[in-house]
Amino acid sequence: MDQYRVFGNPIKHSRSPYIHQAFAKETAQELTYQTQLIELDAFEQDIKAFARAGGKGGNVTVPFKEQALALCDQVSKRASLAGAVNTLSFRDGQILGDNTDGIGLVKDLLANKVPLKNSRILLIGAGGAAKGVVLPLLEQQPQQLMIANRTLSKAEQICQLVSDGRLTCCTFEQTNNYDFDVIINATSASLDGHLPAIPEKVIAGAEVCYDMVYAKQLTPFLLWAKEAGANKVIDGLGMLVAQAAESFNIWRGVMPSTDEVLQQLRADLT
Ligand code: ATR
Repeated sequence: MDQYRVFGNPIKHSRSPYIHQAFAKETAQELTYQTQLIELDAFEQDIKAFARAGGKGGNVTVPFKEQALALCDQVSKRASLAGAVNTLSFRDGQILGDNTDGIGLVKDLLANKVPLKNSRILLIGAGGAAKGVVLPLLEQQPQQLMIANRTLSKAEQICQLVSDGRLTCCTFEQTNNYDFDVIINATSASLDGHLPAIPEKVIAGAEVCYDMVYAKQLTPFLLWAKEAGANKVIDGLGMLVAQAAESFNIWRGVMPSTDEVLQQLRADLT
């Protein structure tokens, strides 16, 4: 049977085996998908060993996504811009890398009926998570995609790299001069209970606020947005399932449906 894995450290709490096994069942694909804990200095040797042993591919998570990019023989444009690979395929002795995080975000936004075409989007953060979603968001032809980051120079670097007229950047304070339809939090601030210092008026004016992380309760960012008066708040659980579906499609050539898996994961959140 074809074997796939998710590689990370830590990895015990990964939901990916559950998600991919559910996809395999739904699409009648015969495969196994397991977690593999990788020691911090053993990424390259463990991935190559899995490929040599006949593994077909895998997902990569924290903290190895950048190392995965460096290991690949070929990478997609979106992975290259993200500076990170989350999907590996082993084919004809080669390691191919892609990044499905951005398309996962876009698919989840569209599934939630969030219009992206001609919309004004604010992306908060300029780290790995933000970089991964810039190209897929631009492909949706927004009117404007603005990146605001605590450290402005990092946002400027992304703008220089991508060089698209619709992509601009600013400080948190400067967001005050604009209105946005959709605000996406791609900072890691929520993870330690902090909020990015965006003026509340900016958050309050948005139709939709999206946090790329998720939790059983509303994340601090979404709670803040809701209390400030944002119309709709969405967490990143749907993005997790949607990026997995894209990886599955890359490996198996069939796109699984995501609704049931997402509902089950939501019910299981602790
Ligand atoms: P990730 O891969 O999760 O994006 P990262 O590359 O370390 O992680 O990037 C973290 C992002 O969260 C950065 O944009 C960081 O802002 P800086 O570039 O100024 O460091 C942002 N971030 C983290 N904690 C934050 C906080 N308390 N307030 C605002 N932004 C924060």
